[in-house]
Amino acid sequence: MRQGAPSLAALRQANSAFAISLLGLVSPSIARHCRHVAELARHFSSQLMIAEPLRLEIFRTALLHDIGLLATLPMEDIQRATSCLYLDGSDDDHAEFGAQLVSLFPDCTRASEWIRHHHERYDGTGYPDSLRGTRIPLGSRIISVADSWDCFLFAEGLAPAEALTKLEELAGSVLDPQLVEAFADCTVADFAVAESAATGCVRERAVRVTA
Ligand SMILES: [Fe+2]
Ligand SMILES: [Fe+2]
Repeated sequence: MRQGAPSLAALRQANSAFAISLLGLVSPSIARHCRHVAELARHFSSQLMIAEPLRLEIFRTALLHDIGLLATLPMEDIQRATSCLYLDGSDDDHAEFGAQLVSLFPDCTRASEWIRHHHERYDGTGYPDSLRGTRIPLGSRIISVADSWDCFLFAEGLAPAEALTKLEELAGSVLDPQLVEAFADCTVADFAVAESAATGCVRERAVRVTA
């Protein structure tokens, strides 16, 4: 590599940062959701003992996982969209558009694949390719869990106990049941309470709230 030239990792980071900034200008709510999901996915990945290079890739991919909404939602819907489409059974092309967009970035083949499959369902009834179980890439399955959690807390305004119950109801149908089990024991930032670094174990927090 030429001395002084940016590394591929630095270029990918810059591209992700640029794209999420652009998304934030168009839709602050979707950009905020993407940042939440990225932070959640990064925390979750570290507690799954996933190695750092992959963890960073999951973070960057999660940051852009809904970027395809820019191409699929009508402009009047984009600004108030919460990007929790699968919760109401919607099936649009944003995963495919997002994958195509990210594939234009250098060396982002895997990120593109993970974005394409972030709305597959564990039972094989998701989209766009009806992948089933562990045929869905691990990065996509991790993003799906973080995506659901953020939607339940933020878009639906559920308390952690309710969100955990709903997450567990989706285990085996929408979400990877082993990942849901692991996530319940995971310590994640409490974005529903604050945009700060308040953290707590999902299951313990749910128990605390219901006690
Ligand atoms: Fe999505
Ligand atoms: Fe999402």
